[in-house]
Amino acid sequence: MANRSDTQRIGIFTGGGIAPGINRVIFGAAAELKKKGHDVIGIPDGWAGMLEVRRDIMQLSTLNRWELSKLFRGGGTKLGSSRTKIDESQYETVRAASREYGLDGVIAVGGDDTLGQAARLYEKKILNIIGVPKTIDNDVGGTDMTFGFHSAVEEAAKFIDRMSTDAESMRRVAAVELMGRDAGHVTIQAAYAGGAHITLIPEYPIDVSRLLPRIQEIYAARRHVIIAIAEGYEHLQPPVLDHQEEVDAFGNVRKEGAAKSLLRIIREKTGLPTQEQIAGYHVRNGPPLAHDGNFAAELGAAAGWLAHERMYGRMVALRDGSITAIPLSDVRGGRLVQEDEYDQETMMKRDLPPAFVRDMQILTNSAPGA
Ligand code: F6P
Repeated sequence: MANRSDTQRIGIFTGGGIAPGINRVIFGAAAELKKKGHDVIGIPDGWAGMLEVRRDIMQLSTLNRWELSKLFRGGGTKLGSSRTKIDESQYETVRAASREYGLDGVIAVGGDDTLGQAARLYEKKILNIIGVPKTIDNDVGGTDMTFGFHSAVEEAAKFIDRMSTDAESMRRVAAVELMGRDAGHVTIQAAYAGGAHITLIPEYPIDVSRLLPRIQEIYAARRHVIIAIAEGYEHLQPPVLDHQEEVDAFGNVRKEGAAKSLLRIIREKTGLPTQEQIAGYHVRNGPPLAHDGNFAAELGAAAGWLAHERMYGRMVALRDGSITAIPLSDVRGGRLVQEDEYDQETMMKRDLPPAFVRDMQILTNSAPGA
């Protein structure tokens, strides 16, 4: 690919909920663009920063690699974020702000709401955009993994493990409620690592008539139970609808109350002592694990490379262990836990990796005399 020599001015912004590693994406992109002689600015507060010319932009090109690396560490995003919806009536406002900033292109770090918006603005030729998928939920279609997911699972697993200390000592049924609005990826992985006895995820409801006896059976054997339940598990009646009035600009309802619903049913139907613990934002607020942070920085550098090559309209992604780029228009939300990942009988993540089972089935089917 011919190297473009003319300098570009590239803006970076971060939208949606935070995830460990966002700052490392910014570092990776800014370092790569600076290395190639481009001008880089940090735009505050996600899409809100593209609706008006903000004075609090960050001049990243003035920082050398080490200053960038030191500045963009730790949890959260130094640029700030928001869940700002841009509708068609605001497209010209975004175009004007981009012109005012003097931007040739934008790197947008966000989940399917942020990137879905990016795809539409690119298609309408409002902005040249590169997307970097971001969510602890790991539910962005088009990429095998999102940065921050592993770090969130680590924190959630520790949270569950800590709660089992309390539940075991106090002889209680504990329910730990974990983030994961629509998909249970964080919950099944953290439950498996953290030693939960039962895992409940939005994708696969477990009938209470099976769930309660299972809880009683475990309690009888171990005198405590640890249940990991995703905040998006909305299959319990009557539901405790905490925070249902909180709806963001994309129509996402704030979910909290699954654990409360579950424990109320357990107390009423079994009389067992219970305790609730909401892990909530804790699992996504920390710094990235080293590997996760390096993965995030590589995604950022890849996004910087794509902007340098003017290969806009793409999202960086992890595919079969390698970082690649796919069309922004291919970004989808809602990559859910697959049926062969979760055992509805044991109510846990399956021990055997699904890909192994599928490969072995192919092998055994193809074996002579199979
Ligand atoms: O989308 C990621 C996420 O962390 C979800 O797991 C969670 O339900 C949601 O964001 C919380 O949204 P907000 O950050 O707007 O409270």
